Amino acid sequence: ITFVLETFLPKLSGGPGSGKGTQCAKIVNNFGFKHLSAGELLRREVASNSEYGAMILNTIKEGKIVPSEVTVKLIQKEMESSDSHRFLIDGFPRTEENRIAFEKITGAEPDLVIFFDCPQEEMVKRVLSRNEGRVDDNIVTIKKRLIVFEALNLPVINYYSKRGKLYTINAVGTVDEIFEQVRPVFTGKQLIG
Ligand code: AP5
Repeated sequence: ITFVLETFLPKLSGGPGSGKGTQCAKIVNNFGFKHLSAGELLRREVASNSEYGAMILNTIKEGKIVPSEVTVKLIQKEMESSDSHRFLIDGFPRTEENRIAFEKITGAEPDLVIFFDCPQEEMVKRVLSRNEGRVDDNIVTIKKRLIVFEALNLPVINYYSKRGKLYTINAVGTVDEIFEQVRPVFTGKQLIG
C-alpha cells in the first residue's frame, strides 16, 4: 500500500517484491513527498541495536509482522521530526490492527492508497533476483511473506476500496510503464510538489 498523508498522505501497498519501493523513488522525484518505508525504518532500528532490534530482526527473518505499537511509533517519530507535511507511506498499514492503531495515535487518514497488483510468481522472481542481500530474501521466507500478505493485507485494501480511496495499479511491466499508470493518480489530484 502507498498512503499519502498531509492534508495529504498517500500510501502504497502491494505484496513483497511488487515494486513499492521502486515506484516510491519515482513518485518522490516527480512529486516531492517525504518517503517513509516501514521496512526501511525497521531495518534501521535493527542496525542501531535499539531495545527492539533483536525482536524486529527475528520477526523479519520469519517473514512475520512486527507489533503495531513499534511500527506506528517509528513512523510517527519520523513524521514529527520532518519539515515536510507530505508523506508517502510505503508498506504500512499491513493489517487492520496497524490501520486502526495508526489512525488512533496520529489522527491521520490517507488521502489515497495505491495498491500494486502483481502475480505471486513475478514477486518471487523479483525478490530472489534482488542483489542487496536482505535477510528475508530467500525462498522459505518469501513464501511466508506472501501468506502473511494474503491473509492480513487484503482486508486493509478492501477497507480503503470501500472508502473510495484505492487506486489499483497493474504492477507487471517495466518500471517506467508502471509509473505511467501511477503518474495520473497524482496529477489528477494536483499533488505536484
Ligand atoms: P518491506 O521492506 O516493506 O518489504 P516487502 O513489503 O516485503 O517489500 P519489498 O521491499 O521486498 O518489495 P517492494 O514491493 O518494495 O519492491 P521493490 O521496489 O524493492 O518489509 C520487510 C519486512 O519488514 C516484512 O516482511 C515485515 O517482517 C516487516 N514489516 C514491514 N512493514 C511492516 C509493518 N507495517 N508491520 C509489521 N511488520 C512490517 O522491488 C523488488 C525487486 O524487484 C527490486 O530488486 C527491484 O529492482 C525489482 N523491480 C521493481 N520493479 C520491477 C519491475 N517493474 N520489473 C522488474 N523488476 C522490478
